[in-house]
Amino acid sequence: MLISRLGYIGLNVDDLDDAVRLFETAGQLQLNRRDEGRAWLGAAGRHHWVVLQQDLDRPTGLTRMAFEIDPGVTLDDAEKVLAEAGVVCERRADFRTDLVRECVRFTDLDGTEIEIFRGLAGVAGGGAPKWARLERLLHVAVTSPNFDLALDFYTQVMGLGVSDFIEDTTAFLHASDGAHHSLVLQRRPGQSRAANHVCFQAESFDDVMRARAIVRREGYELRDDLIRHETSGSIGFYFEGLPRGLGVEFCYEHGQVDPQHHKPRVFVRTLQAKDVYEPPPGY
Ligand SMILES: [Fe+2]
Repeated sequence: MLISRLGYIGLNVDDLDDAVRLFETAGQLQLNRRDEGRAWLGAAGRHHWVVLQQDLDRPTGLTRMAFEIDPGVTLDDAEKVLAEAGVVCERRADFRTDLVRECVRFTDLDGTEIEIFRGLAGVAGGGAPKWARLERLLHVAVTSPNFDLALDFYTQVMGLGVSDFIEDTTAFLHASDGAHHSLVLQRRPGQSRAANHVCFQAESFDDVMRARAIVRREGYELRDDLIRHETSGSIGFYFEGLPRGLGVEFCYEHGQVDPQHHKPRVFVRTLQAKDVYEPPPGY
């Protein structure tokens, strides 16, 4: 596998102040840098999990998915694998600008910029947790107009493993760290790429509930309230974030798979697959 985990995502928003406020309060992230038109927000000692930009010349939405390279792979290796697959990459080593030591960047077939990096900036002083203690950026779920080609690319070239499918419409993909999913692809023919949601893993269930209390206090809209997924086993909730259409999920007890031996399961799309607490027919 080329990558070990999701590192950060980039989002273009139509109002940077609103988005920073949302991710600092309800998102429980720390604002670690802000310049003209951009903001970097992170947690758990990592400089950024979310990079916001306000570029009125571009559509709002997901602009970048950045993945941390697997420790056993070099960026030369990654470049070679991508070149063999016909992917044109840009190699960069500009820490002051990128806040990663080095990276390769390219555009995937659904039009999102992908970065594979080594050495994300840390924050001096450690995690400095807010009211809800967050552990890691866990995954991003994205729609894919070219689902079958995207699935081939992310499994065959990037080397991700399939943890589970929901029918043939959703694929949960794990990287080498074994978190049940770092990337979710959702089949959406005819639609352009969009991020359905991004997920932050909290240190405990109490931290999920602390985050939920803040979301309610701040008046943001809940999307799915306290559900446990069949696939990953995680429990959590979602609220409506920014840009419009992006959910923000807080979760706990997200499962691990063994990347060497895991065999994907295929679930029928039912309410119970999304939330195991939903009662069966005839309850
Ligand atoms: Fe999720």
